[in-house]
Amino acid sequence: MNNDIEKILFTEEQINHRIDELAEEMTAKYADKNPVVVSVMTGAMMFTSEMLKRLNFKLTVDYVDISSYADGTVSGKISLVKDLSTDIKGRHVLIMEDIVDTGHTLKYLKDLLEDRGAASIKIVSLLDKPERREADVTGDYIGYTVPNEFLVGFGLDYSGHYRNLPYVGVLKRSVYEK
Ligand code: IMP
Ligand code: MG
Repeated sequence: MNNDIEKILFTEEQINHRIDELAEEMTAKYADKNPVVVSVMTGAMMFTSEMLKRLNFKLTVDYVDISSYADGTVSGKISLVKDLSTDIKGRHVLIMEDIVDTGHTLKYLKDLLEDRGAASIKIVSLLDKPERREADVTGDYIGYTVPNEFLVGFGLDYSGHYRNLPYVGVLKRSVYEK
């Protein structure tokens, strides 16, 4: 698995340090707001769990599953595979994502939660790839801004693999250009 990685962009230690910083910012804003943390499966799983350990105040955890990448590296159609089980009307929502790429996934989710009457919605994402943006969305709490390369690890996958790498790395082109 590690042999398929061209280079490591962010080590586990760097990421955890960055998550410490984001958690501190979020704690200052949300400690008395009882927010709903909405994790976007499956990519945001690792980021969400590391973040949750550092948010030491009352909150509700829920998740959605949105499929946007059917298989491979090209963005596809969006569909809600698993909905929330929490009523978010009047609640402050923190969406946790692995990466904001074209932005279509988060635009879709943000509009949906807005329609349901969330009091506020902020986007928390480990990575942001602004060069690829097509939809009008901006992250509110971003770990790192990254170049337009295909990344894996710390939750991000290629064809279902590499999510369990504890770092974020660039996938070798030879892996997907066959
Ligand atoms: P968007 O709708 O184009 O913003 O896509 C967001 C989703 O695409 C993310 O939640 C990821 O699951 C996936 N994605 C985007 N870029 C990458 C990447 O570089 N590596 C792995 N997955 C990615
Ligand atoms: Mg995702």
